[in-house]
Amino acid sequence: MTSQLKNIAVFASGNGSNFEAIATACLNNEINGARVSLLICDKHHAFALQRAKRLNIPAFEFDPKAFGSKSEYEQKILETLRAYSIDLICLAGYMRIVGSTLLEAFPKKILNIHPSLLPAFKGAMAIIEAFEFGVKVFGVTVHLIDGAIDEGTIIAQRAFEYHGDSITEVETKIHEIEHDLYPEAINSILSTI
Ligand code: GRF
Repeated sequence: MTSQLKNIAVFASGNGSNFEAIATACLNNEINGARVSLLICDKHHAFALQRAKRLNIPAFEFDPKAFGSKSEYEQKILETLRAYSIDLICLAGYMRIVGSTLLEAFPKKILNIHPSLLPAFKGAMAIIEAFEFGVKVFGVTVHLIDGAIDEGTIIAQRAFEYHGDSITEVETKIHEIEHDLYPEAINSILSTI
């Protein structure tokens, strides 16, 4: 009956702590009826690749520079996703804009996590920008992607107040929330697909 499990692919470019949190949540049944079947990575030195090895999850590394175009790069990824019967894609620190090849193949089935309360502080420097702006309420957003940077239907958000002066404390709290909120959002989206 394991074939009934939904297959999740996580895309990561770096550390991969969210990748590991999602994989662990599946193993602990905190995400129902799904498993992380695949890691897709675009960076040779990403620590996420080492986590995949330890977790015994197949990992595929594709260098976008080795392809003639974004669509050729994504077509190669798509072949791999199909080979693993992937149902849902979770972007977790994947530092690329997903193009039409993947968006059209997985409509409303690509999630992203962003370390701010969207629509505030889009982009790669969200935490530092929010901190330097002096906000007192920080947060995390999980959303479906639609091709624009950090846009698309919001699935889950969680906020917290912070009045201190340490960006490290803010980052730590954000990552703690991410590791809890992403599995929660995945559960709610899986019930619709
Ligand atoms: C997270 O903060 C996520 O919100 C952002 O990139 C970071 C990835 O962290 N999109 P990790 O690689 O999962 O540890």
